[in-house]
Amino acid sequence: MLKRVDYDRTLHPGYARGRALLPVSRAAWLRAFRIHAGDDRIEMILDVGSGTGRFSPVLADGFDADVVGVEPSLRMREIARTESAHPAVTYAEGSAADVPLPDGAADLSLMFLVWHHVPDRAAAAAELARALAPGARLLMATTFADRLKDLLLYRYFPRTRQIDVELFPTLAETVELFDAAGFEHTALTEVRHRSAESLAEYAARQRLRALSVYEHLTEAEYEDGMAALEADAAAETEPRPVEADCDLLVLTRRPD
Ligand SMILES: C[S@@+](CC[C@H](N)C(=O)[O-])C[C@H]1O[C@@H](n2cnc3c(N)ncnc32)[C@H](O)[C@@H]1O
Repeated sequence: MLKRVDYDRTLHPGYARGRALLPVSRAAWLRAFRIHAGDDRIEMILDVGSGTGRFSPVLADGFDADVVGVEPSLRMREIARTESAHPAVTYAEGSAADVPLPDGAADLSLMFLVWHHVPDRAAAAAELARALAPGARLLMATTFADRLKDLLLYRYFPRTRQIDVELFPTLAETVELFDAAGFEHTALTEVRHRSAESLAEYAARQRLRALSVYEHLTEAEYEDGMAALEADAAAETEPRPVEADCDLLVLTRRPD
């Protein structure tokens, strides 16, 4: 059993810089969110596990809507309030199983790389069903244990692949759980995510330890991977972007 990652203890210091969205990735995600947001008017968006606010202002601008970013970690919320402030965005304390919104208040919800951190998934799915309006979409950007992608990470830190298999639920488990809570499976798509413009930039980002999977490695595993990655980065002659596909699961809140 893998330990729970506490963003108040680790991760928050390097997260905003280590995971900063490149413009090309911001555009790719917003395009996908727009395609899958549904046809209803969107006035209120719930960003569950909003972290340092990487996506909340993107959603506010992209949909011309109010956004509530719900986040359990005080440190992550503090960074969001200073570094991702936006007049249409509020960052609030809460979690996927405890959303500080009235019934049916959200017209759209995003969970970006959050689902594997949620301990009480059935309760969270029920809570999201309560907070979303009938017909509203829930967009989940996540990894599924049975749909792992070819991540560069797995080459330098080989045990992270097995950790991801343990950490993430399968697609079928996820769809079944949300079906029981009142969501229908609407679509599954892949979005190309660029995490760095070069191997050197990728290596510098990994030094910030902004990926929670590193919390499950030994110090030696992390340092061995970093040594190999930094050696390859130093030998890079032509900058090569680091990209991978990421799954986006689209669920729709069924009317009761
Ligand atoms: C990988 S970060 C993603 C943050 C943000 N969505 C992004 O893409 O930058 C995961 C976030 O989920 C939060 N989290 C952990 N448990 C949670 C829960 N039960 N409900 C909602 N968010 C949770 C963490 O505190 C952390 O900020």
